[in-house]
Amino acid sequence: MHYFHYKTNNLYCEDVKVSDIAERIGSPCYVYSYRTLMEHFKKLQSAFKAINPLICYSVKANSNMAICKALVNEGAGLDIVSGGELFRALKIKTDPKKIVFAGVGKTDEEIEYAIKAGILFFNVESEQELERIQEISIKLRKTVDVCLRVNPEVDPHTHHYIKTAKKESKFGLSFAAARLLLLNRGRFFNVQIKGLHMHIGSQITEAWPYIHAIKKVNGFIKEMKSHGVSFQYLNIGGGMGIIYKKEIAQTADIFAKAIAPLLKGGLKVILEPGRFIVGSAGILVSRVTFVKETESKNFLVIDSGMNDLIRPTLYEAYHEIAPLHRRPKAKQRQYDIVGPICESGDFLAKDRLMPQIHAGEYLAVMCAGAYGFSMSSNYNSRLRVAEVLVKGDKYFVIKERERYSDLIKKERIPPLI
Ligand code: LLP
Repeated sequence: MHYFHYKTNNLYCEDVKVSDIAERIGSPCYVYSYRTLMEHFKKLQSAFKAINPLICYSVKANSNMAICKALVNEGAGLDIVSGGELFRALKIKTDPKKIVFAGVGKTDEEIEYAIKAGILFFNVESEQELERIQEISIKLRKTVDVCLRVNPEVDPHTHHYIKTAKKESKFGLSFAAARLLLLNRGRFFNVQIKGLHMHIGSQITEAWPYIHAIKKVNGFIKEMKSHGVSFQYLNIGGGMGIIYKKEIAQTADIFAKAIAPLLKGGLKVILEPGRFIVGSAGILVSRVTFVKETESKNFLVIDSGMNDLIRPTLYEAYHEIAPLHRRPKAKQRQYDIVGPICESGDFLAKDRLMPQIHAGEYLAVMCAGAYGFSMSSNYNSRLRVAEVLVKGDKYFVIKERERYSDLIKKERIPPLI
């Protein structure tokens, strides 16, 4: 579900003609729909209202401050994984008691920063990290709350690179390792272990992997109870998938109906959705630079590439690509849609059947709101693109396009050169 649709053959984002944005702001640019963003958040909230979870939007999906702020204003907390994301969260005045901090490699500086900020808790991924948090908390003379991230060893049948709960995965603690820490929790006298965290992967379109994982975690909670260990929080992570192609829709309601009954044990539930909220709320607008026809392929060479949206290159991800101006009677042709980067992996789509396209036309890469801009780079010294937020019939630049001078702003040529 999203608010990008055609009106008289022109693509609109809510009430704004997307080509008007492209003409004014320039191409490429990311365009986001405020209404889509908000509705997804509210759908999750209402689907889970019986258990009233804290929904911590996963900042890594799209970390633009305007996007995060819009969600925070609506009551969202934030799931962060770095000092940089904490900086963003504090900058937009997120209540620190709604910030949770995950990640396998938190540095001393990041731990100290988060303790000083007074975040709700860390999601701890190893014994070494727990020891480090304890040392730093003693130094800062503050007690600290944590949840242990457990690895329930469930394969959610998603892309290999975005599974996070396989036995060999780097994330979290096995139940055996978590058990040892909990039974010896006296060692961590300055740290309160308040709950458990799991995050099994991303772009998961069915409920069953969650059901398997939560059942395992619930079993572990019960076992720990028999040892006198009780918890306050159960954080089930993010990972809910969206429709990129023909995936079967898993609405918030269907998802909640399937898993909420397993979450009624009295613990405060936390969700960490990223893609589900922002994925379909954004598109990447690009312009066709050349139509290059060779003996074996027709290429649309466009002005955005893998540095702007790396998902097709990295995961062979499918994104629908549609012209901003649709010509229903145009004959169909098959194209590879490629960027200007000097890599064969620089493509946004392969063998895509679409109406014939000419140089100079604009295209929209759909469902690019999550892990689009946030994974972009300056590779090939390309400028990171502008981001625009549409609300109704208005639009706002929420990140300016970089300039050449931004590329070298932090570089220094030493005197020996
Ligand atoms: N919580 C934790 C601890 C996570 O590691 C992640 C994502 C999330 C929540 C949010 O997951 P989501 O609801 O967005 O699926 N770059 C990849 C996705 C990587 C996800 C990393 N972790 C992609 O473009 O598909």
